[in-house]
Amino acid sequence: MDLTTERAKGGPRHVAIIMDGNGRWAQARGKPRLFGHHAGAKRVREIVEACPDLGVRYLTIFAFSTENWKRTQTEVAGLMSLFRRYITREARSLFKEGVRVRFIGDRIKLDEKLVRLMDDLELMTSDNDRVHLTIALNYGGRDEVARATKRLAREVKAGRLDPEKVDAESLAKYLDTYVLPDPDLVIRTSGEARISNFLLWQSAYAEYEFIDTLWPDFTAETFARSVASYAGRERRFGAVPG
Ligand code: IPE
Ligand code: IPE
Ligand code: MG
Repeated sequence: MDLTTERAKGGPRHVAIIMDGNGRWAQARGKPRLFGHHAGAKRVREIVEACPDLGVRYLTIFAFSTENWKRTQTEVAGLMSLFRRYITREARSLFKEGVRVRFIGDRIKLDEKLVRLMDDLELMTSDNDRVHLTIALNYGGRDEVARATKRLAREVKAGRLDPEKVDAESLAKYLDTYVLPDPDLVIRTSGEARISNFLLWQSAYAEYEFIDTLWPDFTAETFARSVASYAGRERRFGAVPG
């Protein structure tokens, strides 16, 4: 089969979402930013549950970036506590829905209790296969490539890897996402048209969809519309269509 050009038939297999706009959503209601984060977290379940009907097998969501530590201590602490509560509260329903959960990002800066909850949820759902939900937490694309390079360099130093054999394919095996296919569609909410260090390597040929909706207003219907807009786009992967 010729894989150089391909019309995006059906839906995207892997959708990645930059869930942005929680702060503005709260501000518009005269509430603190954390109120928006709580409302945003509540949206996730509906989107995950919409995946099977839309043919989306992989869903990756950006929850906290390596740059988000620059926010106030109150907001950062509030988000970390929200992540702990989210995992505790949602674990059973995710398991029952057949969702396999993975986390990407650097765990080193996260508190022990949160990391334990993340590990437990990954283990608990490891036999699930209906939807693959990946949560990017303390994730940055550049940081991920740097960590991958560090591991790769260690292999070279130990004499287990020939530097001449390093290519894009072998480097990708060191990324946090090594078991996942590349995203076909990346959606960003809230009207910002930037990628903010999300899946830099993996999105090399992704289709992008920037929408004005703020994340706490994002519904299964909004999701279905974005997914539908993907179908029919021509993906060329650098080739001239024949
Ligand atoms: C996205 O919403 C959630 C996180 C980055 C944790 P924001 O908090 O960035 O919301 P805005 O962009 O300030 O509205
Ligand atoms: C990206 O949103 C990170 C997440 C959605 C978790 P930001 O709101 O942090 O990105 P910038 O600062 O607008 O680029
Ligand atoms: Mg933002």
